[in-house]
Amino acid sequence: MDKLMQGKAIIVTGAGSVGEGWGNGKAAAVLYAREGGRVLAVDRSIEAALQTQDIIRSEGGVCEVLAADVSRNTEVKAIAEAAMDHFGRVDVLHNNVGIADVGGPVETSEESWNRLVAVNQTSLFLTHKHVLPIMEKQRKGAIVNISSLAALRWIGFPYLGYTATKAAILAFTKNVAMQYAPMGIRANCVLPGMMDTPMIREPLKASYGGDIEQMRAKRNAQCPMGFMGDAWDVAHASLFLASDHARYITGLDMIVDGGLSLRCAG
Ligand SMILES: NC(=O)c1ccc[n+]([C@@H]2O[C@H](COP(=O)([O-])OP(=O)(O)OC[C@H]3O[C@@H](n4cnc5c(N)ncnc54)[C@H](O)[C@@H]3O)[C@@H](O)[C@H]2O)c1
Repeated sequence: MDKLMQGKAIIVTGAGSVGEGWGNGKAAAVLYAREGGRVLAVDRSIEAALQTQDIIRSEGGVCEVLAADVSRNTEVKAIAEAAMDHFGRVDVLHNNVGIADVGGPVETSEESWNRLVAVNQTSLFLTHKHVLPIMEKQRKGAIVNISSLAALRWIGFPYLGYTATKAAILAFTKNVAMQYAPMGIRANCVLPGMMDTPMIREPLKASYGGDIEQMRAKRNAQCPMGFMGDAWDVAHASLFLASDHARYITGLDMIVDGGLSLRCAG
């Protein structure tokens, strides 16, 4: 039996990881490849992308890499061109890149705000701008945008620029889903809750008393299941949405949070 993503050409942005272990983008890239996808692993850090490529190639998968900052138009244009050069098509666009900073409107510097908007929000505008025309010609494509439960819920401390930009992704995705539904292109969001990935450790530890183990214990306790999710939980949800098994699903906000968003007290 064919694998779920057999032969599909897949762009994953932020396909490396900022620290040791499995980030969401790295896990998604590896899972797509395990399911037969041909992955273009894009990352601002070529070293991070190469680590992902090593894993995929060591498992016999197909992975090309490209260093690009997804907040820059010319570099995103190069991503679409590289995918066409390597694979001749783009079946899946997986927008994983996202950065975090804590604080409300007074504490957040204008520079930090602008950076969050550029990296979390403008990056999506640019990847869609350059990849949708390719998908439109194919009359087929699937887009997975990684938002966050923080787009919908207060997570315990001011997280303004992050939550605002992650919320914008939800509206953006629905708009694209409606415009492109007649062209066979689907666009969905994944909203991870509290996940134990390298990304959260440094930016958030001060909000949890400064100690990573203490932060991990507190976050585990906050989750109804008693533990945080991990990068593979996000990757499996993304795989489903990107696959043809989700052919009739578009504009969805898929929450992956172990029930966290159902809680109204405690
Ligand atoms: N970990 C969580 O608890 C959690 C919860 C909700 C949502 N998310 C979302 O998951 C995604 C992060 O996943 P991750 O764990 O793979 O993150 P990560 O921080 O490990 O980043 C993955 C890669 O993105 C790259 N990157 C950063 N800025 C870039 C840019 N401008 N251009 C290109 N590459 C860039 C980094 O170099 C890194 O290798 C984000 O969108 C985040 O908002 C995470």
